Amino acid sequence: MKIAVLPGDGIGTEIVAEAVKVLSVLDLSFELEEAKVGGAAYEAHGHPLPESTLKLAQQADAVLFGAVGDWKYDNLERALRPEQAILGLRKHLELFANFRPAICYEQLTHASSLKPELVAGLDILIIRELTGDIYFGQPRGRRSAPDGVFAGQPEAFDTMRYSRPEIERIAHVAFQAARKRGKKVTSVDKANVLETFQFWKDVVTEVHAEYPDVELEHMYVDNAAMQLVKAPKRFDVLFTGNMFGDILSDEAAMLTGSIGMLPSASLNARGQGLYEPSHGSAPDIAGKGVANPLATILSAAMMLRYSLNQSEAALRIETAVKSVLAQGLRTADIYSDGTTRVGTKEMGDAVVARLKAQS
Ligand code: IPM
Ligand code: MG
Repeated sequence: MKIAVLPGDGIGTEIVAEAVKVLSVLDLSFELEEAKVGGAAYEAHGHPLPESTLKLAQQADAVLFGAVGDWKYDNLERALRPEQAILGLRKHLELFANFRPAICYEQLTHASSLKPELVAGLDILIIRELTGDIYFGQPRGRRSAPDGVFAGQPEAFDTMRYSRPEIERIAHVAFQAARKRGKKVTSVDKANVLETFQFWKDVVTEVHAEYPDVELEHMYVDNAAMQLVKAPKRFDVLFTGNMFGDILSDEAAMLTGSIGMLPSASLNARGQGLYEPSHGSAPDIAGKGVANPLATILSAAMMLRYSLNQSEAALRIETAVKSVLAQGLRTADIYSDGTTRVGTKEMGDAVVARLKAQS
């Protein structure tokens, strides 16, 4: 089992170190190889996704990814910005299926911005298509407006598009995932305005015919944004395209009160995957040893389950994380009165201690 370890920028290096520590006490044999990505790779090699890093990721069974980005790169040309590393990895590895669970942990119910009764027990799985849509559609760019009231003026444009097979394969992923949970898929679109998403809705409806045991509802994205803050527990699998999924997954993550706790998986058709926390590189707290490593540790658990066929080990990690929370240990992001504040390393050490106590 070969794992490419790409810590990246900001808190990425600190949190990935803790996840690697956790993996190393599992009595499994991995080959771990680390490489630079994002701003760190730009500094070292002049590119956010150097050829050597991409090659390592392609040859590995799984990628454990930290986070990329820092304000100091905001003025670089787009192709050199840290974000291009994650977009490039998604594209080159064809990681079209993004799983973002939004779970409200029992002990963290009060950390949510919503009333506890709205979020207690919340467990949504967001499935976001990750390699299509307006993120990657061509053409895009700047030009002189060809027509309309502002003809001749400078303008910028992007292309929103989805092909039938792209929608079909992610729809199968969503229905199959729903089968293993609450058997309900909410497909989020903007079919009332956008041709791309009328097509999305049509194709999803067709694929649904193969899954009569799963309930399908369609919802416009604006309504979905509203329902997420009004009655989030009505969702089971929230399924959508790349752009809407980007926005709704941040919204959903935040209302769990535990963005520092949420892992994610991005998979291709061969089961290869990239695993990363749902949060970003948080340059404001980088190097201070206060970041929450649990989202990355839980991402490592997802990696064991989805790409490395080690679901027992995955469960051991998840159980260990729950028990450190039950012990009352909290990093700053999830701290509340009456709990014990710990740093990044102490949190990682606590998970390791629980794992050792299990065996
Ligand atoms: C995410 C991030 C990325 C995205 C950025 C960093 C390119 O926001 O993973 O949600 O927009 O997909
Ligand atoms: Mg995002």
